[in-house]
Amino acid sequence: MGTDLHDLLRSLRVWDVELPSFDPSGAPDVPLELFTAWFADAVAAGQTEPHTMSLATADEEGLPDVRTVMLHGSDASGWSFATHRDSRKGRQLAARPYAALGFYWPARGRQVRVRGPVTAAPSAEAQADLHARSTGALAAALTGRQSEVLASPEELARASEAAWERAREEPGAPVPTWTLYRLRPDEVEFFQGDARRRHVRLVYRRTEAGWVKELLWP
Ligand SMILES: Cc1cc2nc3c(=O)[nH]c(=O)nc-3n(C[C@H](O)[C@H](O)[C@H](O)COP(=O)(O)O)c2cc1C
Repeated sequence: MGTDLHDLLRSLRVWDVELPSFDPSGAPDVPLELFTAWFADAVAAGQTEPHTMSLATADEEGLPDVRTVMLHGSDASGWSFATHRDSRKGRQLAARPYAALGFYWPARGRQVRVRGPVTAAPSAEAQADLHARSTGALAAALTGRQSEVLASPEELARASEAAWERAREEPGAPVPTWTLYRLRPDEVEFFQGDARRRHVRLVYRRTEAGWVKELLWP
């Protein structure tokens, strides 16, 4: 007998751990400060891979797409991530340079959503960012052809082997398609889950006069 997915789904819970309280009246005036505090808190709580996020883009027709990527930085110039500009997401970002990011840190019942325009950083910055990372990251980037149809696993094995060898021998090997993108937020929302479902949602919206904070119904 196979597993019944619906039985499994009914057996699972969310917001079943001890959750922190979040008082939005004491929140900082800029979202970056709160993001940095929540990120550090997620790391301290032992949240696995808190630096991974969903990246949502739209294609030329406006149809949505989403995948997981790593957060490379978050500062006054925006939230950054890196990928190949000729990948599917890279092509979507070229057509529609606007994206959304989603973080979920279940250990703390917290979600953060970020939306805004995306720009590519100068190529030298992308290469420096890549070369500061692991040999595996460089080998993966050197393998290239991301999102193209793969004819066979053997073809990937050969390309990956060659990429690993080059990454080990030439730690500064350039990867011309590798691009560092920065999302400059128009809007950042912080969601604090609550066991009684009285979740707190605090949204920051960028205006000409600076950041405006509002609460949202959960
Ligand atoms: C935990 C995790 C982290 C990832 N980080 C990245 C990343 O930083 N950059 C990247 O290009 N792909 C990353 N990927 C792979 C992407 O999810 C995706 O498969 C790939 O980028 C192709 O996406 P696309 O076809 O929409 O361009 C990651 C996947 C996982 C599961």
